[in-house]
Amino acid sequence: MVGKAPPAGGQLADADISAGNHTLEIETRVVCISGGTSGIGAGLVAAFLDAGDRVYTFGRSPEKIETVRARWPEAVAAGRLTALIGDVTDADFRQRLTERLELETGRLDVLVNNAGIIRASGTLEESLEHWRETLEINLVAPFALTQICAPLLDRSDMPVVINLSSACAQHPFSTCTSTSYSVSKAGLDMLTRRLALALGPRGIRVNGVAPGVVATEIWDGADALMQSIVERHHVLRRQILTPADIAEAVLFLASPRARLVTGAMLNVDAGYTLG
Ligand SMILES: NC(=O)c1ccc[n+]([C@@H]2O[C@H](COP(=O)([O-])OP(=O)(O)OC[C@H]3O[C@@H](n4cnc5c(N)ncnc54)[C@H](OP(=O)(O)O)[C@@H]3O)[C@@H](O)[C@H]2O)c1
Repeated sequence: MVGKAPPAGGQLADADISAGNHTLEIETRVVCISGGTSGIGAGLVAAFLDAGDRVYTFGRSPEKIETVRARWPEAVAAGRLTALIGDVTDADFRQRLTERLELETGRLDVLVNNAGIIRASGTLEESLEHWRETLEINLVAPFALTQICAPLLDRSDMPVVINLSSACAQHPFSTCTSTSYSVSKAGLDMLTRRLALALGPRGIRVNGVAPGVVATEIWDGADALMQSIVERHHVLRRQILTPADIAEAVLFLASPRARLVTGAMLNVDAGYTLG
């Protein structure tokens, strides 16, 4: 069994967790992925569902949430996929999410802080509004979600937090088109190590994955730039990454094979960070 015994006080035991007429398997991991409604996040939802896990995800757009539910109707009906409308920067939403996890599963095994934004701008031209929005979503919210999820992670036998960083955190590449984005991800790298230090004694691992260029909606309207970065920096076969490439790294970090890996940043970038 992945989770420790549920806490006293009427929490649901694993064997009791059910949705509709379906009872979930005892070995099912409980996974929460922020921003699982497109791109890398949707790839992560697919990968964890394929692995047989129980997935909770959320995003702000109701239309995208409907698309997720429509893509995996059987998992939704079986209670293996819960897709919620929610903003990771909203404290009330984070509270409701964890209350729901508490009630329905009594624990959390894997938290993936994936939701993120980038607003392309010249360094000195970027507005303070964009700066604050980027830091709030990409850096403050991963901390806040981890903080409120920590008691649920405590009840897992194999708890892990995985943060989606970026190659842009490691070098001031001119091809990274937002300074606030690069700074937010550099902050996330340090947050990953600080949280690993703080949560290690509780048995909670905290790691990061730093992708290079992944073909997702985040590049909408910037196809030419995306291709030019791949040509210039992806020294390994000039290949663009896919959400599935990132999911492989996340699945590894979430697995027992990485049981003593914490505070690590795994570059999955076709060589982007080599220069
Ligand atoms: N694609 C790349 O080349 C690349 C490279 C390095 C790192 N990354 C990182 O990988 C992560 C995923 O990026 P992606 O390329 O998959 O981007 P994407 O396709 O734009 O997906 C971003 C996801 O985050 C959600 N999201 C954004 N703000 C949110 C908020 N405030 N609350 C809740 N959900 C929110 C979006 O849904 P809503 O808009 O509906 O809320 C969407 O589901 C990001 O952290 C990004 O920085 C991407």
